[in-house]
Amino acid sequence: MAAAAGLPGSITLVGAGKMGFALLEGWVAQGLSGEGVTIVEPQPSPALVALAQERGFRLNPEDRAAARALILAVKPQALDQVAPAIAGEAGADTLVVSILAGKRIADLSARLPQARFFVRAMPNTPAAIGRGITGAYAAPAVDPEGRAVAEALLAAVGEVVWVESEALVDSVTAVSGSGPAYVFYFVECLTKAGVEAGLPEETAARLARATVAGAGELLRQSADATPATLRRNVTSPGGTTAAALEVLMAKDGLEPLLERAVAAARRRAGELSG
Ligand SMILES: NC(=O)c1ccc[n+]([C@@H]2O[C@H](COP(=O)([O-])OP(=O)(O)OC[C@H]3O[C@@H](n4cnc5c(N)ncnc54)[C@H](OP(=O)(O)O)[C@@H]3O)[C@@H](O)[C@H]2O)c1
Repeated sequence: MAAAAGLPGSITLVGAGKMGFALLEGWVAQGLSGEGVTIVEPQPSPALVALAQERGFRLNPEDRAAARALILAVKPQALDQVAPAIAGEAGADTLVVSILAGKRIADLSARLPQARFFVRAMPNTPAAIGRGITGAYAAPAVDPEGRAVAEALLAAVGEVVWVESEALVDSVTAVSGSGPAYVFYFVECLTKAGVEAGLPEETAARLARATVAGAGELLRQSADATPATLRRNVTSPGGTTAAALEVLMAKDGLEPLLERAVAAARRRAGELSG
């Protein structure tokens, strides 16, 4: 197998849907190839079949053995069905990285009894274009090398941040996991506000979409500037932006609204794990 920066020598990917396939594409972009990679996916897409063939990955092989790292990327409700079939691959030395929303390490450990090393991770949808951010939590048994392996696997689709308690995975879910949807909704609202302001809908939609995409890119490229600095840079005292921000930054403005939204998502994540 062609070694790729920091990636382990043997990887089993279980579930190659949207997120699993995005991870696989990220590893491939880093040069991963060869039969050290096993993919378990009951309904492989034509793109997956082609990629597996091109890179020499093993797709749904009969003979399977414990891997250095096993990435669980099925829907959470498929865990009970999939666990018995992969228990052999999740061996005593295997690092199990789960991206299953709402499945606690205790749930995984109960279903994969041989495995001892678990990382729980929550990516988000920009992973599909390599621009995701993943919040991850490593169980205490995972050593620094295990963390490094998990980070290399997850970093293939964007940034990785570690949290130091499993409960905080719910907070990550509420901020960055669900976050892209908040931003898309913001674009919808800005479009509607533009229509209210007299613009044709198509024009308002283009303006809103490009504004959010452009502001996001500016934010990304201005790593040294805080969002507050960037905001102040476009806000002249007494000007138009200031007039709008006065509304958004009012006591009952965007901040308390987002706090309530994030709290609701966090609560729901907790309920789903229960
Ligand atoms: N998408 C996101 O933004 C996002 C963000 C964070 C976390 N996640 C988590 O990522 C996981 C996957 O989400 P997704 O959006 O990628 O879902 P998805 O597109 O439905 O992918 C799940 C894949 O797993 C496959 N699968 C089902 N049963 C299986 C089995 N027994 N053995 C092997 N593979 C099996 C599914 O195949 P079939 O199509 O045949 O069922 C499907 O290809 C979920 O747990 C989700 O919570 C997703």
